[in-house]
Amino acid sequence: MILKDKVAIVTGGASGQGRATSKLLAQEGAKVVFADVNEANGKAVEQEIREAGYEARFVCLDVTDEAAVQAMVKGVEEQYGRIDVLFNNAGIGYGAKYKMAPVHEADTRDWKGVLDINLNGVFYFSKYVLPVMIRQRSGSVINNASSAGLMGQPGADAYTASKGAIISLTRSWAVLYAQYNIRVNCICPGGIDTPMMQVLTAQPGVYEQFIRGVPLRRLGCPQEIAHTVLFLASEGAGYITGAIIPVDGGMVAQ
Ligand SMILES: NC(=O)c1ccc[n+]([C@@H]2O[C@H](COP(=O)([O-])OP(=O)(O)OC[C@H]3O[C@@H](n4cnc5c(N)ncnc54)[C@H](O)[C@@H]3O)[C@@H](O)[C@H]2O)c1
Repeated sequence: MILKDKVAIVTGGASGQGRATSKLLAQEGAKVVFADVNEANGKAVEQEIREAGYEARFVCLDVTDEAAVQAMVKGVEEQYGRIDVLFNNAGIGYGAKYKMAPVHEADTRDWKGVLDINLNGVFYFSKYVLPVMIRQRSGSVINNASSAGLMGQPGADAYTASKGAIISLTRSWAVLYAQYNIRVNCICPGGIDTPMMQVLTAQPGVYEQFIRGVPLRRLGCPQEIAHTVLFLASEGAGYITGAIIPVDGGMVAQ
């Protein structure tokens, strides 16, 4: 087991990439504590992992609630005495809650709402987990950005800005925290077949049009993200820090 006796926090663990990663990290021996705002899905994932014989605990919280994040991190340290892995994954795209629009027509509420979840959530979890990792002189932080942070995406301003900022933070934090033996890396998924992407691919023709822009001609699956995160969390990736890794079927290489 690659992560035997390690302790991992995953945000947005109730669905998609976070769910697959929580399951895989637990299967590889980590004690996984995952956060999500979706209580029903979170409880179901917790039950799934436990029924498979692995260790996981679900915490229902909103990543924009700094006090709740601080309390969760404190609870994990009190329970296990350490935190080895942080997967900053929770995020939101455009849909029913926040609308996509070019900046000259944008609603400021949508701009702030997306940035609050996608960017401030990463800030809060890192702010409270990094002191634990500094004390123990080890840790692996993996941020989930997006190919959208590497390419332009007209009209998706808050989303691309949040993901671009996560890429920048990854580089700054990698350099700063290397002195404490903490590695900070970032993955940039392309189209991954999760509920976030399914909102788009449910529309006629969108899937076909999307995969025409992907050299591997398919969407990625959440397990492919989970395996990338597992590698970055593992000792095998011990010399990798500050890396921005596309997991996108070759999309941004073109
Ligand atoms: N699916 C894709 O094609 C794709 C591509 C690139 C990047 N991403 C990124 O991957 C990450 C995971 O997305 P996914 O594809 O698994 O989507 P998903 O919608 O399946 O999962 C996202 C999870 O985050 C949770 N979440 C949303 N807002 C939250 C909040 N305020 N507090 C706590 N939890 C919250 C949701 O409840 C959900 O369980 C996101 O950061 C997303 O931006 C996704």
